[in-house]
Amino acid sequence: MRKKVIAGNWKMNMLPNETISFIEELAPLVKNTENEVILCVPYTDLFYALLTAQNTNIKIGAQNMHYEENGAYTGEISGKMLKSINVDYVIIGHSERRQYFNETDETVNKKIKSAFRDGLKPIVCVGETLEQREAGKTEEIITKQTELALAGLTNEQVQNTIIAYEPIWAIGTGKTATKEDANNSIKSIRNKIAQIYGQNIADGVIIQYGGSVKSANAKELFEMSDIDGGLVGGASLKAEEFSKIVNF
Ligand code: 13P
Repeated sequence: MRKKVIAGNWKMNMLPNETISFIEELAPLVKNTENEVILCVPYTDLFYALLTAQNTNIKIGAQNMHYEENGAYTGEISGKMLKSINVDYVIIGHSERRQYFNETDETVNKKIKSAFRDGLKPIVCVGETLEQREAGKTEEIITKQTELALAGLTNEQVQNTIIAYEPIWAIGTGKTATKEDANNSIKSIRNKIAQIYGQNIADGVIIQYGGSVKSANAKELFEMSDIDGGLVGGASLKAEEFSKIVNF
């Protein structure tokens, strides 16, 4: 049985003082859950988040990393740096990074390999645009993105990768994929992993849904056969609302 993993992606929101109050409010609300709880926060909040989340079941992640360990890359943060302050997770290949910051399938693949090298668990985002969906290309796009993202990883690394299926048209729009659509897309990702790495590995990989998840729709989505939790943007910015999603 795969566990449910609920991750918040704060994007470019929240200051350190807000981070501390948020985690102090969230911790008692989620302390009894069997689901995994992750908050992916801005770099400037990481240290405060890690300190405040000590002795709780809340894990902390970053939202991006560079694939080199160090070097002349002004403004970048490496996986090694993240690991040095005990960050556990890192989002890689979010559609906003693919769209605005030149993230490609190739850099996504490099970053995933580096995340494992540095001892971090990657949460890898894939998803189609509205145009691609309307052209009937959803499955082709998301399975290709998955294949390229995971290329060259060991079976064990694939097993430890979290994939977030986030249809781009559903992000921040209030439009959620239907639970059947989301489940089918996730199944197609799982089938692709099975083709390449074997059914056993595919059956163990956590694949989340993301895109306008909120407390009002979390339960119906997360109860579907292949949806193993969610990557939550806007609704992860309020502790009470996020706790309801975690405790769906
Ligand atoms: P929203 O939940 O705000 O639609 O964002 C989804 C997302 O991009 C999470 O990574």
